[in-house]
Amino acid sequence: MAEVIIVKDQHQAGRIYARAVADLIKQKPTAVLGLATGSSPLAAYEELASIIYTEHIDVSHVRGFALDEYIGLPLSHPQSYHSTIWRTVVEPLGLNPANVHVPGDALNGAPLSDGSKVAHAGEKYDQAIAAAGGVDVQILGIGTDGHVGFNEPGSSLASGTRIKTLAEQTRNDNARFFNGDVSQVPTHCITQGIGTILKARHLVLLAFGEAKAEAVAETVEGGVSAFCPASALQLHPHATVIVDEQAASRLRNKDYYRWAYAHKPVWQSI
Ligand code: GLP
Repeated sequence: MAEVIIVKDQHQAGRIYARAVADLIKQKPTAVLGLATGSSPLAAYEELASIIYTEHIDVSHVRGFALDEYIGLPLSHPQSYHSTIWRTVVEPLGLNPANVHVPGDALNGAPLSDGSKVAHAGEKYDQAIAAAGGVDVQILGIGTDGHVGFNEPGSSLASGTRIKTLAEQTRNDNARFFNGDVSQVPTHCITQGIGTILKARHLVLLAFGEAKAEAVAETVEGGVSAFCPASALQLHPHATVIVDEQAASRLRNKDYYRWAYAHKPVWQSI
């Protein structure tokens, strides 16, 4: 089972993530960070940026691989994950852009119909992650339907990076980034698979707010099932789930998680 940490707010969660990642980079300056978009990781990136500056940590050799990307959006579109990762991670952390990869980069906005570019992009992305030595810490958000990356319910728990069709719920959830107009939200994406994500050495899933409570309960305390792709975290030897009170509200074992975290040995990181 994953370690579950219940926190006051996103910033406290962010500080826990940032401390672990900053210590990792100090030990391993070429660390490979798994990056995610969405609102959930934003405070974590801010906290990490702040530690990097106050502790003068050299991040020039840090590498990054993002989870997913829409198909068919130009890389320069403000809502492409290429642009989002640039804005929320590369710039504020001061990473070298050449070291940071997003699954759609090689597609360069190519439409779904362009099989010559789209068909094998996933395998190539997985090969690039492997060639970099694998992801050290993968940050994850979660969709209200239990998706991670863009692995919608029904995704194979052994999947590699590949093209997926977005669920209607996900397109509706994400319409807020496209002027509230769901017709502007792409229908397809390229996403790291659950099998790809499980290869990262440490997974840190962040979830905040009541809307995530059911997905969090299914992930942590439900059965392992493709119906809730995030539940695959239960198969990972080192997974940390950091949630606020609202997102934790449907967990049955809350008292134990609080007790375990309060009694964690001081030498043990997340
Ligand atoms: C998108 C992303 C996911 C993210 C999810 C939740 O669908 N592809 O990686 O976890 O949104 O977003 P938020 O954190 O904004 O709730």
